[in-house]
Amino acid sequence: MLKPFLVVPALFLLGAPLLFQQTQSTPPEQTPPAAAQTTSTIPPEFVGKPNPVKPTPELQDRAKKFYGWDCAMCHGANGDGKGDVAADQKLALSDFHDSLAHLSDGEIFYIIQNGKGKNMPPEGDRCKPDVIWNMVTYLRKMSNTPATPGAAE
Ligand code: HEC
Repeated sequence: MLKPFLVVPALFLLGAPLLFQQTQSTPPEQTPPAAAQTTSTIPPEFVGKPNPVKPTPELQDRAKKFYGWDCAMCHGANGDGKGDVAADQKLALSDFHDSLAHLSDGEIFYIIQNGKGKNMPPEGDRCKPDVIWNMVTYLRKMSNTPATPGAAE
């Protein structure tokens, strides 16, 4: 007669760690959007940072390849914001010629490294700072906008 009373609490105890694990697994899933949101404001120390990397044809060739692999699917091969993924996911992307004109080199660097909004993925630690700065130069040329360290809007 006592058994059912013992079994129920025992099941509960067995189930409890599972429940606990489930609740624990949620925070990591929530982290990317939360982290991306905090990057919408660019820290002032990045805004006026000058680009320390002197471009060479070889480095720019690398940036071009990197852009083709990692960026063109959203931003378009020529930076017009009309990449396949952008179209599929109906992402609102600007033409770099318009958007980069309002950003300093340091701000562009920061956005590539840390992402922007919900849909611009961060490169984070995958990319060395030099590689990102070299990409900034490439984007400047592609978008035909002048390097404007510190001249942020
Ligand atoms: C999954 C699609 C996607 C990929 C891949 C992507 N971006 Fe973006 N990017 C976006 C979106 C969306 C925005 C606009 C974000 C906003 O304003 O909220 C953006 C914004 C930017 C901006 C700010 C200027 C602007 O036009 O809004 C820069 C600079 C940028 N991306 C560079 C890059 C570079 C460089 C790469 C490759 C290393 C890259 N992005 C890869 C989606 C993407």
